[in-house]
Amino acid sequence: MLKICNIVIVGGEGDLAFRKLYPALYSLHRENLLADCTKVVGFGRGNFTEDSFKKNMRKWAEGSEYVKEVDDQTWSTFCERVMHFVGDATSPNDIQRLQEEMGPEEIVFYLSTPPSIFAPICKAMGAAGVVTESTRLVVEKPLGESLASFNVINDTLFETFEEHQIYRIDHYLGKETVQNLLALRFANIFFEPLWNRTYIDHVQITVAESVGAGGRWNYYNESGALRDMVQNHLLQLVCLVAMEFPARNKADDIRDEKLKIIRCLKPIDSASVQTHTVRGQYVEGSVNHELVPGYMQEKDAQDTSTTETFVAIKAEIENNRWQGVPFYLRTGKRMAERYSEIVIQFKPVIFKFIDVDPNAINNNQLVIRLQPNEGIEMKMMNKVPGLSEGTKLQHVGLNLSFEEAFEDHRSPSAYERLLLDVTRGDQTLFMRSDELRGAWSWVDGMIDGWERVNQVPQKYKAGSTGPDDALGLLIKDGRRWQDFSG
Ligand code: BG6
Repeated sequence: MLKICNIVIVGGEGDLAFRKLYPALYSLHRENLLADCTKVVGFGRGNFTEDSFKKNMRKWAEGSEYVKEVDDQTWSTFCERVMHFVGDATSPNDIQRLQEEMGPEEIVFYLSTPPSIFAPICKAMGAAGVVTESTRLVVEKPLGESLASFNVINDTLFETFEEHQIYRIDHYLGKETVQNLLALRFANIFFEPLWNRTYIDHVQITVAESVGAGGRWNYYNESGALRDMVQNHLLQLVCLVAMEFPARNKADDIRDEKLKIIRCLKPIDSASVQTHTVRGQYVEGSVNHELVPGYMQEKDAQDTSTTETFVAIKAEIENNRWQGVPFYLRTGKRMAERYSEIVIQFKPVIFKFIDVDPNAINNNQLVIRLQPNEGIEMKMMNKVPGLSEGTKLQHVGLNLSFEEAFEDHRSPSAYERLLLDVTRGDQTLFMRSDELRGAWSWVDGMIDGWERVNQVPQKYKAGSTGPDDALGLLIKDGRRWQDFSG
């Protein structure tokens, strides 16, 4: 039985709604994953007419890489469930009016608005009397810029909603390849015995973007790579790689295990920030053979800024499984390529072939390609075929491409998965308050450290792999970053 609930997008005339949410909802409709009576409501200020709103929706659905097809017939049935509602979401009267138009079904409110207006919107919902036990609230990042500001936003939500009603989005958790991390680890027998400090030398997580901060400079400048990407997406990846088996495959059991990892992260403060982190800011360069401006030349840029557009971190998890295994994280804008990848670097074999140059043996590597060219590659030593004297070995990859292996399957967008889970009432892929508090507290320590020792970003050329010191972060440990394997 599909759950009937109405989905109200507050900020429904905004960029995120058109680019991601409506295309995802259209795909769910197309796959018959929404209940017949479910309405999709775009709650906005009235910058669109009913007609131009739907036209714009269609334009974005047609342009979405995840939408399989927009045919007239399916589009017209989708439009039957779409409502463009003009009003002020901070006004209890308007919210009541909305509910009268929608009827008694459960409501999912998706706040696609700046967090600064979460408080008046939630208050208005409370005052309008539309919030029941089964009402759900979805909120987008940025949820704060520090532990203190996160707590303020969160407390605001708690005035009207309870934890079980709040769905905090980290869209990385909705990505197919990210969900597959748990399947990979827990549904295959051969990883678990090796998944620890005895066999793993270190882990690398890279989320590289080729786009710059242009177009949202003011937001980005307040945030920077650490808050924008590491506090949420990269830390969630660390958790999924490092966590223990959950007691059950249930939202809170999984989130309990992730939380334990966050709590075991060794603090990075003013004493260690210079040896454990590298900050960078891009200057003019070329990406994909195109000349692009530096961060300080982007539209809306101010005169000076010490915001980092790149960060590399040596993170350490102080628990029994991972003690002594660094997790090297890096993310940046205007890098040479857009890719997200996790590399599990295994330790060397203990006994080497006598007639093989020991230096010619590369250690095993498991590469998990999150995007693009989604897949998994296991790099291992093989004998090169032939009659040459002595044994010649070569490092080659067992390569699983998801596109080839699952050619009949469409990979849904992260937002399809997340929106569907909200309608089903499944919080597994959403962040709990305590996870976010832990993540902010770790990040706050680093930011405080940067300020205390005045660690400013180093310049790196757009189209490069980041500042030189990011290479140094690994070189001084006798290691090096892996190039993109895709
Ligand atoms: C967002 C960040 O959360 O994630 C953006 O705010 C970033 O700065 C984006 O570009 C990256 O997401 P994806 O899915 O393109 O890797």
